[in-house]
Amino acid sequence: MQLSYLQQKYPWLKLHADKISEYIPPDYYNSILKEYVFNSVTDLKLFSNYLDSKIRPLPIIRALELGFGSGRATDIFLEHIPRYTSLDMVDLSPQMIDYSQKKYRNQRGISFIRSDTINYFSSAKNKYDFVYSLWSFSHSVHQHLIHDPSKSEYVKNNILRFIKNNLESNGKLYIIHFDSQSEEQTILFKQWKKVFPIFSDINIQSPSKLLIDEVSNICLREGIGKMSTTHLVGDPIRYESMNEALETFMNFHMETYFNKSNDVEEIIDELKQDFNTYQKENGIYIKPGCFIYEFEKR
Ligand SMILES: C[S@@+](CC[C@H](N)C(=O)[O-])C[C@H]1O[C@@H](n2cnc3c(N)ncnc32)[C@H](O)[C@@H]1O
Repeated sequence: MQLSYLQQKYPWLKLHADKISEYIPPDYYNSILKEYVFNSVTDLKLFSNYLDSKIRPLPIIRALELGFGSGRATDIFLEHIPRYTSLDMVDLSPQMIDYSQKKYRNQRGISFIRSDTINYFSSAKNKYDFVYSLWSFSHSVHQHLIHDPSKSEYVKNNILRFIKNNLESNGKLYIIHFDSQSEEQTILFKQWKKVFPIFSDINIQSPSKLLIDEVSNICLREGIGKMSTTHLVGDPIRYESMNEALETFMNFHMETYFNKSNDVEEIIDELKQDFNTYQKENGIYIKPGCFIYEFEKR
């Protein structure tokens, strides 16, 4: 079937990022993002509970946010930690930087850095008391590995370098990382594995998760610090229609990557088959999942 015919049927297919750094436009991101809820608690509430108990008591709070996007987690950080000392914000997307620079123009002590997370780690000079990243850390790790899996040493060494050199003693790291074996991500990884061989085994966790686990083990072994990991299965996310589920998966989760592919029709057909297995009377219900990493340096 012609792409133009498919685009008539699914107008959202016209959106396409030419470069990985374009990600998706901030306003579109805000409009398409679903709420992620774990045992009736949203991801943002989990983050704010952590801030209240672990970060608010710190005497100095020089913070770093990685992959801030349109500032969902930033808003929570600013609300719960109003006496922060400084906040550095890293994102790869120029549009997200532009959007958030405007959004936080009256906020003191914020610096924006357009960079890939792992590359930022390789040259960071500042020291931090708290580093956090919601649903973004894996983007950077996978972008390094998809074309060259041997870069895992570079990625691992730079995470370790950053923890050793740029995180203060008793400094904390908080990451919400997706679970590639959740119902939601299993659907995606079936598609990603067709183009990126590093995802060929969908029966194991994503390379990014495995790499973070490896870094955690090294930190424990070398007495650098301790990671605690919590696995959460999300409450099912409801998609009102097949069209809504397709748009969310093609444009949000797969970042428009396949929208101009020759295989787009086949991909849509396969997604529909997957969604059919989650179809209920009044919608499609698919469970997400995540790992919450909390690291504390010695
Ligand atoms: C799923 S969004 C998460 C945004 C925000 N943390 C939230 O929870 O709403 C992923 C973000 O990671 C950013 N990103 C993608 N690749 C990146 C990379 N290599 N380094 C840093 N940020 C990246 C995107 O631009 C986007 O803003």
